[in-house]
Amino acid sequence: MRHGHFPDYKNEQVSWKTLRQLWPYLLEFRWRISIALIFLIVAKIASVAVPFVFGLTVDQLNLTDQQALVAIPVTLVIMYGTLRLATVLFGEFRDLLFGRVTERAMRRIGLSVFKHLHSLDIDFHLSRRTGGVARDIERGVSGISFLLRFMVFNIVPVFLEVLFVVIIFQAKFSWTFVAIILLCIVLYIIWTAKATEWRTDYIRQANEADSKSNTTAVDSLLNYETVKYFNNEEYEAQRYDEQLAEWEVARRKNRLSLFALNGGQALIVATAMTVMLLLAATMVTQGELTLGQFTMINGYIMQIFMPLNFFGFVYREMKGSMANIEKMFGLLREQPQISDAIDATTLPPAKGQIEFKEVSFHYHPNREILKSLSFTIKPGEKVAVVGRSGSGKSTLVKLLYRFYDPSAGNILIDDQNIKNVTLESLRQQMGIVPQDTVLFNTTIAENIRYGNPNASEAALQAALDHAYLSDFVASLPDGLNTMVGERGLKLSGGEKQRVAIARTILKQPPILLFDEATSSLDSKAEQNIMRAIKQVAKDHTSIIIAHRLSTIIDADNILVLHQGEIVEQGRHQALLDKNGHYAALWQAQQSSQE
Ligand SMILES: Nc1ncnc2c1ncn2[C@@H]1O[C@H](COP(=O)(O)OP(=O)(O)O)[C@@H](O)[C@H]1O
Ligand SMILES: [Mg+2]
Repeated sequence: MRHGHFPDYKNEQVSWKTLRQLWPYLLEFRWRISIALIFLIVAKIASVAVPFVFGLTVDQLNLTDQQALVAIPVTLVIMYGTLRLATVLFGEFRDLLFGRVTERAMRRIGLSVFKHLHSLDIDFHLSRRTGGVARDIERGVSGISFLLRFMVFNIVPVFLEVLFVVIIFQAKFSWTFVAIILLCIVLYIIWTAKATEWRTDYIRQANEADSKSNTTAVDSLLNYETVKYFNNEEYEAQRYDEQLAEWEVARRKNRLSLFALNGGQALIVATAMTVMLLLAATMVTQGELTLGQFTMINGYIMQIFMPLNFFGFVYREMKGSMANIEKMFGLLREQPQISDAIDATTLPPAKGQIEFKEVSFHYHPNREILKSLSFTIKPGEKVAVVGRSGSGKSTLVKLLYRFYDPSAGNILIDDQNIKNVTLESLRQQMGIVPQDTVLFNTTIAENIRYGNPNASEAALQAALDHAYLSDFVASLPDGLNTMVGERGLKLSGGEKQRVAIARTILKQPPILLFDEATSSLDSKAEQNIMRAIKQVAKDHTSIIIAHRLSTIIDADNILVLHQGEIVEQGRHQALLDKNGHYAALWQAQQSSQE
């Protein structure tokens, strides 16, 4: 078992590093972002001007001597209205421009994670938790949307606003106000950050519990039939509920800590506001400030502290989003063990010679599965592999397909080591009908076309005929458009195998691999399919892992695998004459058939 499929995110440094990783995805729209930022600044300047103009208006209205012109307050009021409108309008322009940036980044990242998951090797996927991974991606992508939106719509504007207000306060009023504002903001940020750090653990616990319960639910629903066979609905429900309970507890802790956080924030802000207004009021009574200036100060206090209140929520959610994004990027950092060599070449369309040179392999170091296998298959030959269940036949196919690399020895196709060619060109040369066929939850036609999406209607029909599927399909009310159900479970085992065969026929690769492709068929259907396989395999190199020996008596060579070793090889009659392993297997099957 490899380690590190699912890194322990507890120790993962969630930081601004996350933002840096997002950067490349944003560069695509740098002009759009620049313009959005300009709109943002314009909107902020307009909004900072609003209390200013309002204060001037109050002072104008407050003038006692009659020479005051009516025109001035009227102009000011109109300016006030215009500024308000500008604040909103430029904010909207900014949103319009930036929305597209966010969505494009979400799309790009979602796609790259998806592609990356497909590039990971079979080992990752065998030990994956589909539900959990899906949830991680979902949360990561929405985290990106949140993070970007709030960076642009909240964090940056708040800082700009504070900056502008500080400039105005120190120019128009005293440094005392500036000092109070800055002190309050510093305290506020320290408290928010500290309390949030402390809370992060609870948020993570809640997320983990959420992923876990989701994994359980998906796994349980995927195994619907098994659950029924064993009457284990109650057990499944109980397991699910245990995880939901864990989630509930984590959420409760989460909420309590949120209460503490918000309470502290409110205390800091309320104190600062009160002190500032007291100070301003005193100054008015002593004639140091006009009434207009008092309203101006009040307006600014509101304008700064209101978003600051929101800032706590945003900071917290941002941390949460960053944790989610980090977890998603963690998936991106998973490295496949099997990948193209740096100098990998393209395997040209194969002639079809396959050579195993002292190939050994183990899934786990303590259990050797294949032991120093050597054999050669010449182009166009049909070779059968036989042996008891668990002797390593399917593993041999997986090595050839390079799902795994041998732990020792080499595999060559047309004299090229398969390690030195690209995975894509290698796999293009091979068609596999696997032991357990899993179909996509779409129509039969689409499942077959998966072998070659560009195949013509005639080719599809020919594949159906070759795989002895035409009669079956004709008997279906919806014919080729019949939906096969999740993983193809609406078809019988034999029907599924025939779909898989048709699919491979459509792919038309030079090398064909059949892994007990007829194990789910009755003898009659098997004979038909074997005839089809022979037809298809006629001028192809093919490896047939045989379930019933009677189907491969005409093979050019038969490899007998026993406990990971080739104990015998040769043609049917020669092997029978040897009276060894093969003869014993043959005898066993002959007698069981009678
Ligand atoms: N992914 C895996 N991890 C660990 N062991 C495996 C894995 N796949 C197969 N095995 C083990 O390797 C042995 C050979 O398996 P396989 O090649 O499927 O046998 P066969 O196809 O001949 O029945 C079996 O004992 C099986 O338990
Ligand atoms: Mg097998």
